[in-house]
Amino acid sequence: MAEHQAPTAPTNTVVLIEPSLLNLQGFEEALARGWSPDPRRQQDKVYAEAELEMLRHDRAGFLSRLISSEVIATSVSNRAPQYLAIQPFWIWDGDFCGYITLRHLPGTTRFPLHVPGHVGYSIVPWKQGRGYATQALLLLLPIAAKAGLARISVICNENNLASRRVIEKAGGMLLRTGTDPSDSPDITKLFFDLPTTHN
Ligand SMILES: CC(C)(COP(=O)(O)OP(=O)(O)OC[C@H]1O[C@@H](n2cnc3c(N)ncnc32)[C@H](O)[C@@H]1OP(=O)(O)O)[C@@H](O)C(=O)NCCC(=O)NCCS
Repeated sequence: MAEHQAPTAPTNTVVLIEPSLLNLQGFEEALARGWSPDPRRQQDKVYAEAELEMLRHDRAGFLSRLISSEVIATSVSNRAPQYLAIQPFWIWDGDFCGYITLRHLPGTTRFPLHVPGHVGYSIVPWKQGRGYATQALLLLLPIAAKAGLARISVICNENNLASRRVIEKAGGMLLRTGTDPSDSPDITKLFFDLPTTHN
């Protein structure tokens, strides 16, 4: 369940908390340590530095960009633009551990071309290997169910064995393998189906 209040003592369990100006510091410190929040740009120091600079220049603006839904224009005539609903959460064990984001186009399970599935997540390197990503994905499922999604699509790179394991531990079933327009055509992706409720 998402909580506003950040717990204090570090534990081996995580909660999901909504990003706010009060807890942005952990994200800032992670950027300053060279962590790139975009899994597709993990080694991209320039990107991480640019994000850090933007955050420090305008904290409120940075936060609002992070949590605001995107307007997606449609090329189909007579269709109103759609909103890509974006719900990011910090993964929190008393300190900032990473983030997990739910994104979806209300009313459809399809995605705009640049969006790689319903979920994005990353754990900072110094908090990895503690089961945090798996816990976070499991915590996101009721939130997705509440948003009207009976199942979600989760995508990872074929060679991202840790992420694959996370998705499988959370109950994801491999549907297919292939490329995705959200990334380079040279990168093979695994497409998982993950039910949000266990009946
Ligand atoms: C993928 C990622 C989120 C995993 O976070 P995490 O908190 O360390 O994940 P967990 O501890 O919940 O689980 C990781 C599992 O992968 C396994 N694993 C880790 N590295 C592995 C590897 N190289 N090969 C096989 N399995 C591996 C772990 O042993 C663990 O499985 P287990 O519980 O059965 O032992 C983290 O590595 C990360 O942020 N990577 C960079 C960003 C990214 O890839 N995001 C996902 C994009 S789809």
